[in-house]
Amino acid sequence: MSMTDYMQRKPLADIIRGAEEHVLAPSLGALSITALGIGCIIGAGIFVLTGTAAAQYAGPGIMLSFVLGGVACAFVGLCYAELAALLPVSGSTYTYTYATLGELVAWIIGWDLVLEYAMGAATVSVGWSGYFASLLKNLGIVIPPAFAAAPGTVAETLANGTVVYGIVNLPAAFIVGLLTFLLIMGTKESARLNNIMVAVKLTVVLAFILIGAAYVTRANWHPLIPANTGEFGHFGWSGILRGSAVVFFAFIGFDAVSTAAQEAKNPQRDMPIGILGSLILCTLLYIAVAAVLTGIVPYAQLNVADPIARAVDVIGLTWFSVLIKIGALAGLTTVILVLLYGQSRIFFTIAHDGLLPPVFAQVHPVRKTPWKSQMMIGTIVAIVSALTPIGILGEMVSIGTLFAFVLVCGAVIYLRKSDAEVTRPFRTPGVPVVPVLGILFCLLLMAGLPFDTWLRLIVWLVIGLAIYFFYGRNHSVLRGGTGSAALRRAPRLNRH
Ligand code: ALA
Repeated sequence: MSMTDYMQRKPLADIIRGAEEHVLAPSLGALSITALGIGCIIGAGIFVLTGTAAAQYAGPGIMLSFVLGGVACAFVGLCYAELAALLPVSGSTYTYTYATLGELVAWIIGWDLVLEYAMGAATVSVGWSGYFASLLKNLGIVIPPAFAAAPGTVAETLANGTVVYGIVNLPAAFIVGLLTFLLIMGTKESARLNNIMVAVKLTVVLAFILIGAAYVTRANWHPLIPANTGEFGHFGWSGILRGSAVVFFAFIGFDAVSTAAQEAKNPQRDMPIGILGSLILCTLLYIAVAAVLTGIVPYAQLNVADPIARAVDVIGLTWFSVLIKIGALAGLTTVILVLLYGQSRIFFTIAHDGLLPPVFAQVHPVRKTPWKSQMMIGTIVAIVSALTPIGILGEMVSIGTLFAFVLVCGAVIYLRKSDAEVTRPFRTPGVPVVPVLGILFCLLLMAGLPFDTWLRLIVWLVIGLAIYFFYGRNHSVLRGGTGSAALRRAPRLNRH
């Protein structure tokens, strides 16, 4: 088979027509879509990784890391907005790539998105577990630390200096199981829960900024960029860069909005508002939280599972600390929910194209949710979250997502040339400069990640290629495979 065969593009017209054919209940307005974005964006990144990244890499300069991450995401966000409005179909980057670089690259990116969505959900559930154990402690219930930490990680250090290592992270697996059940039961209920939780977490974040600002000790911000230790990535300017790559995780999610494009009432208007609106709001909040956090607690003390709550403890407001933990738990819950949801919808789209087995597109006859797929995703995510440390997971998610973003920016440039005549409801300004800057910023952040993370990405992509050559290429609908026949009879998703 020739290489051009694998590069066969899915015609834009087909994708757009496919979106129109899907019988869906478009019920999401600009506000709900923005809430969906915020629901997915504010999570473990700000509640957990800000502390770790400040303590290990950037010091108070973590504020600058957020600026760098925000700028990179803004360029990418502008590109995403054009594609999400042009191709209002679930599947995000995967679909855009299918229309531009062809099937093989589309599959690779779909596989890569598992890192963002499924592994992202695992990362956040580990953060959830940290705040959950901490809240229970306030209530006098102690989860044995070894059962709330991954094997090999330090669960606690006893007073006599003995180190206790983790065995399994049970709370992390528990929350994934619970949310998977909710998603199987139906999207409408989940969307309502999401809106309430988004309101709770926004309130908590704002309260932390406003109350915490009064307790900032300016001396904690000096030096803003601690001197480099001699090792790349450990303080100094390289530390700011590595800090950006790590807290980039905090921005992930604005793109998840695109997975709901088919359910938007007016995708042409609402998608760009949802994507850019949630991104701008979150960036401003992050910079403020980072400033207050490092202003209250000396950065070296922030390498803990619940840094924001730790800062509030330092202030001495116990009631507020409990409130912060509840808000953080609500916040983290919505992120896990949206990521698990997004993963099943991406698999749904890929299975419709025949590149994954039809089981991933099977819809429950009553609930109208892709229940089997959701159940398999939930099981694997729960196992991974029970056994893997948050640092490794977070970096994997960051590199996988940055890789996907590079392709999104490339797709905008490509489509402007290949399909110049198609009407674009939202046009990215300054093409090709903006997409090129997006690509360069993403590559810069990727360069800030450790070599091991790069290796893991390569291994992951090789596994993906093997699946394509053993399964996908023989079943591809685009190339006349069998995927379509099985799916023509499948019931449609009915999402609310
Ligand atoms: N942006 C999301 C978080 O910070 C993934 O948890």
